[in-house]
Amino acid sequence: MDQIVIRGGQRLKGRIPISGAKNAALTLLPCALLTDEPLTLRNLPRLADVDGFGHLLNQLGCSTTIEGSRPEDFGRVMTARTTTLTSTVAPYDIVRKMRASILVLGPLLARAGEATVSLPGGCAIGNRPIDLHLKALEAFGAEIELASGYVKASAPGGGRLPGGKFTFPVVSVGATENALMAAVLAKGICVLENAAREPEIVDLCNCLVAMGAHIDGIGTETLTIEGVDRLHGATYRVMADRIEAGSYACAAVITEGDVELVGAKASEMEATLASLREAGATVEETKGGIRVAMTGRAEPVTLSTAPYPGFATDMQAQFMAMATLGKGASLFTETIFENRYMHVPELARMGCDIDVRGRSAVVRGVDHLVGAPVMATDLRASMSLIIAGLAAQGTTEVNRVYHLDRGYERLEEKLQAVGADIERISAG
Ligand code: EPZ
Repeated sequence: MDQIVIRGGQRLKGRIPISGAKNAALTLLPCALLTDEPLTLRNLPRLADVDGFGHLLNQLGCSTTIEGSRPEDFGRVMTARTTTLTSTVAPYDIVRKMRASILVLGPLLARAGEATVSLPGGCAIGNRPIDLHLKALEAFGAEIELASGYVKASAPGGGRLPGGKFTFPVVSVGATENALMAAVLAKGICVLENAAREPEIVDLCNCLVAMGAHIDGIGTETLTIEGVDRLHGATYRVMADRIEAGSYACAAVITEGDVELVGAKASEMEATLASLREAGATVEETKGGIRVAMTGRAEPVTLSTAPYPGFATDMQAQFMAMATLGKGASLFTETIFENRYMHVPELARMGCDIDVRGRSAVVRGVDHLVGAPVMATDLRASMSLIIAGLAAQGTTEVNRVYHLDRGYERLEEKLQAVGADIERISAG
């Protein structure tokens, strides 16, 4: 397994290109199942999960071709076309490796009137149920049955969903996405209340509208979808990855650097930028993105994760790493996932002072960190180890970097380009 080796102490200076958003790409790709016409996605990030989703689409009868990049994009162009579905089953061996595969449930149900998808099971950060996905689809008229680790969803008579209304008791990004993709081809009208409002949901809605869907309330917590008979193809550009941008911003702060996050959109990450300013960073919009600069140690922050537009749970581990060298004590509360402090024991190996009490953690700034061999456990925890390693004295070896490759495109290249002493050691 590959390893990433960092010799800390370099200040990051320069421009970091921000790739297309992983969590937008993973909900835009299944839209290709909703029509027999080609869907072309631009600015698609080069990530393991995107490749994995492409293979899943291929298994369902969707052909995918990768073209080069457009000059104004950092990512690739992929054209996906599902002339006819050859399967409506997403098998366990794929879903267990990539939870986002569950996002074929809604589009398969909409296109074919049925779908059989393996239950995804849990992951490092929590047990991650899909009950809200299923309740929303049932509210739209789907029949749901669970057997032998699979969920089978079907529309009455294998036709189109009648429509209906569902109010989410808990905000769920994935359940909102599955429900949206199921609703666009329904016979009637579907209403979602307390829907997720993440920018990736807006990206999905905008892509579906470009394909001919009728959606009202985009960007709000109430989405009204009037089903149409069919959707057509479209060309759509994946939004920039606000979590990648926020991750590199934390790296700039902990190294007292000065970077421009090229392609990042401030309007999509206001809570992150507000917390960076609370930490004492200079944060300003530029023509091409966002500049983040820092001198001295970070001020203490108090963060509680929340659904958008609150502070993103996907930014918690990275901010925690940044706070380890800050002044005073910072307080974190993780309200979304029940086990999202896997990075803490690894950061402690580098000399961090972090005290976890249930959903909360107190981070007391220390004078310095010491590089050490550490283990990546999940995507964002891995990035927190990279961020700490960039500022630690000595060498940090991050193992199991396949976690990183799921969500950070060309990470070591991007960091080398702004002065980090970082390399990937391929273990063959
Ligand atoms: C998406 O996961 C993201 N993944 C996650 O990013 C992100 O952390 C999460 O949204 C929250 O923003 C993708 O977009 C591929 P949820 P998702 O449904 O959809 C509970 C990353 O690092 N819940 O909004 O799975 C759930 O357990 C990844 O890029 C139910 O109880 O998240 C959690 O506590 C990690 N029942 C909360 O809701 C359900 O049916 C929010 O989960 C669904 C969710």
